Amino acid sequence: MSQPEKATVILAAGQGTRMNSALPKVLHRLAGQPMILALLDSLQTLAPRHVVLVVGPEMENLTRAVARHPLNPLIAVQNEALGTGHAVIAARGALQDFTGDVLILCGDTPLVEPATLAQLHAARAEAPDAALALLGFRPVEPGAYGRLITDGEGNLQAIVEAHEADPRVLTGDLCNSGIMVVDGGRLFGLLDGIGTDNAKGEYYLTDIVELARAEGLTCRLVEGAEDELMGINTRADLAAAEAMTQVHLRARAMEQGATLIDPFSVYFSFDTYLGRDVIVGPNVFFGPGVTVGDGVEIKGFCHIEGATIEPGATVGPFARLRPGAEIGMDARIGNFVEVKQASIEAGAKVSHLSYIGDARIGAGANIGAGTITCNYDGMVKSLTEIGAGAFIGSNTALVAPVRVGAGATIGAGSVITENVAPDALALTRPAQKEVPGWSTRQQAKADKADKADEKS
Ligand code: UD1
Ligand code: CA
Repeated sequence: MSQPEKATVILAAGQGTRMNSALPKVLHRLAGQPMILALLDSLQTLAPRHVVLVVGPEMENLTRAVARHPLNPLIAVQNEALGTGHAVIAARGALQDFTGDVLILCGDTPLVEPATLAQLHAARAEAPDAALALLGFRPVEPGAYGRLITDGEGNLQAIVEAHEADPRVLTGDLCNSGIMVVDGGRLFGLLDGIGTDNAKGEYYLTDIVELARAEGLTCRLVEGAEDELMGINTRADLAAAEAMTQVHLRARAMEQGATLIDPFSVYFSFDTYLGRDVIVGPNVFFGPGVTVGDGVEIKGFCHIEGATIEPGATVGPFARLRPGAEIGMDARIGNFVEVKQASIEAGAKVSHLSYIGDARIGAGANIGAGTITCNYDGMVKSLTEIGAGAFIGSNTALVAPVRVGAGATIGAGSVITENVAPDALALTRPAQKEVPGWSTRQQAKADKADKADEKS
């Protein structure tokens, strides 16, 4: 069956007052990604012809955040937040002459899956005479959600906002997700009919259901699941949505062949990629931009962001990989090691207590415990280059810019400020001095002094 053309309007102009935040609500992040971008990503497979994002008057940061998204949404400004119906009217100019199906989404309901949206579009396409199809759900706590009144045959009769509902209506558990597909040929005509005679004095989008019915049109209902359709109004809702997102991301990692020893303590970002047979220990955090190759082991308590880890490497426990860390094949990053903007090439080892920043560590090099790349002189950052197979003794300070040639050895405790030739030995610490019998003589002096004290 051929479906009508699709357009989408996303409502995001509300103040988000209940978040108590300087940031527009839809820029708050889930799994490291602003929720509005998660919603736009979910829309991509539907390939709508128009996407209109309705924003408030001072939301330039929101406009900027969506500007690079491939769907390239048109921005419509709702100058005053006078309600969800009023917000859709702000998209009228952008949808002039559009008579296909208009999907209306709320920016604060970002967990909805593409398949569910496709199902809603299909429900509307199957009932071409219906004014709209709406996604309902039965939350565990219906609370402040609008309640749906139905005729028991899949037709919606009215939506009643919770604060306007009488106690009998409030006992109903079927709620409005705010997501609907409306016949574009009728949408703005219906919206012209809504008023503000209600508890909040706002233009409620939900009123179009009764207006459509008054014109003899039907409204279809599709039921979805709470974990996709919950709205985010408060920080507590945000935390609940984050928890649900993490459940999905953990499941996805395991399906793709990773072992999570304690899944509930591993935190992923929306774009974390784990290969097959990766093992992740407890309490590991993945920030955005992490790619982990096959067979990598990440031991407990690591914090990793913006990093690439090649197959067979081991990381942690207690390692920190910051943006630009590239860990090569079979390399080893041990405990209390921080790596930033540095490539640790194949088979190299940084096993204990080191800071490696702005550096290239050649294949098979061994970096001793406590080695520090001194990459910053207070003004500029400089590069440290360690050749393949070099051995850097423990507690070495490498003062960048500096190069250590392949196969060179640095004595423990050195402060390396000059380049070191390949295969050379460099050490900068003072030579060891030894005084024979020194302790015995010290003790004898101390004993003599004690005796003198006792006599006096
Ligand atoms: C809305 C619905 C409610 C539904 C719930 C689902 C109405 C009147 N109520 O309530 O039935 O159960 O969503 O989560 O529609 N917005 C604007 N401009 C405005 C007002 C809101 O763009 O003037 C945007 C908000 O940014 C938000 C969305 O519309 O993304 C929903 O607004 P919100 O105030 O959160 O509505 P709810 O009270 O949650
Ligand atoms: Ca809401």
